[in-house]
Amino acid sequence: MPQLELALIVFVLLTAASIVWSTLKTGMSPMMSSGKACQAMLAAIEKPAEGPLIDLGSGWGTLVIAVARKYPHQQVIGYELSWLPWLVSNIRKKLLGLGNLTLYRKDFRQADLGEASILFCYLFSKAMVALEEKLKHELPNETLIVSNTFALPSCKASKTIRLTDIYQTPIYVYDWPSALCTES
Ligand SMILES: C[S@@+](CC[C@H](N)C(=O)[O-])C[C@H]1O[C@@H](n2cnc3c(N)ncnc32)[C@H](O)[C@@H]1O
Repeated sequence: MPQLELALIVFVLLTAASIVWSTLKTGMSPMMSSGKACQAMLAAIEKPAEGPLIDLGSGWGTLVIAVARKYPHQQVIGYELSWLPWLVSNIRKKLLGLGNLTLYRKDFRQADLGEASILFCYLFSKAMVALEEKLKHELPNETLIVSNTFALPSCKASKTIRLTDIYQTPIYVYDWPSALCTES
């Protein structure tokens, strides 16, 4: 087999293995928000306050890049654990010259979210439980939280948008810290 083909096969296998490995590690695949979800999440923001706009698990950069393009004068941050999506999103960021966007290869659970004006997420139920605990302990400031599909388990959303897709996917919007959360 020619060396180029072999190199290509090895590359594809390593890529697939890396995605499977990080999915097992984080509990979630790097699935992108749909175009409709991105539009609805962006539309949920009126005028962001100062303070960074942060995507918790920025994946391939789909949402975080749309945010950075829409708000070129705001600091935008993405945290992503899976190295391949993180690498691809960084390449996209460089190609688009998005100087206001910083992408960290880091667990958002270890990040300081205290200065955020808006938090975006598209995670899964278990991660939302951990996120809610973190927010209750570490987020005193006013922050808007916009979550694709999954709700914070014990907090009341100020608004729920339903996408016009086959699942009628919900987008939950929370005004933190005034969101009514029951004690856990
Ligand atoms: C469903 S994807 C969403 C990607 C992007 N936010 C979007 O809307 O297109 C969720 C991402 O969160 C990442 N993730 C899950 N837990 C994480 C954690 N604790 N820290 C950083 N990234 C995490 C996963 O690797 C995955 O890429």
